[in-house]
Amino acid sequence: MTTTRDLRERAGEEPITMLTAYDATTARLIDDCGIDILLVGDSMGTEALGYDSTLPVTVEEVESRTAAVARGSDDALVVADMPFLSVGVDESETIRNAGRMLKEAGADAVKLESGPHTVDVTERLTQLGIPVMAHLGLTPQHVNQLGGYTRQGTTEAAAEEILSLARAHEEAGAFALVLEHVPANVAAQVTDDIDIPTIGIGAGGDCDGQVLVIDDVLGLSEEAPPFAEQFGDVRAAMTDAIEAYKAAVDDGEFPTADHSHIEAGLDDLS
Ligand code: KIV
Repeated sequence: MTTTRDLRERAGEEPITMLTAYDATTARLIDDCGIDILLVGDSMGTEALGYDSTLPVTVEEVESRTAAVARGSDDALVVADMPFLSVGVDESETIRNAGRMLKEAGADAVKLESGPHTVDVTERLTQLGIPVMAHLGLTPQHVNQLGGYTRQGTTEAAAEEILSLARAHEEAGAFALVLEHVPANVAAQVTDDIDIPTIGIGAGGDCDGQVLVIDDVLGLSEEAPPFAEQFGDVRAAMTDAIEAYKAAVDDGEFPTADHSHIEAGLDDLS
């Protein structure tokens, strides 16, 4: 069973691997492959729930998907991603929402899209026993403010702010930090500067670990970000299987006698 302490000890020694998962079947497959962290990302909004962005995702949706992922995994650390406006608006609601992920859904930790507003929240949740993974750089819940899913930390001031927020979240008790869509040289300096593991997505090869969205890895996404890599073509495999099923039904080749049974005495119903 992977713990937050294991990850801290591994930082800089051995790469940490993290993938998103939104259901028990996928979680089991990923877990069996030895991936360290399963992130029940709010990317479920665009990948699994059919929304145009992550903003509509609810606490109930993340909780339900987290419970499924926790049921499907044995070894990986399960991290629930706190959806838009579920943290930071009101302290007791923040604690209740984050607490539900551990108490009701079986998560091991939560992830917060971070900024100056999440330093105190990170400290409070950590004090209460809710481990927090911070997330800096591109934070998709700010898409309307950022004007798109654009690269972050590209000016000296912006890069300095990422470094200073990374330090502040480490000090507040975060056990790891996701760095998304930031220059590789900025991510490398943050990784050097702080002791908690950094996990990059579009942040170069010098982070302590890497994360990708599972649909991008499998080749299921309709559109993947420029920093993602497709490692398989599951869309093609699924399409082939579904088309083969349809053709077999259309042609009367499925079901066969092997898929059916005849009950004696039931041939003459009135
Ligand atoms: O929601 C998500 O999948 C994420 C990862 C891209 C880090 O936040």
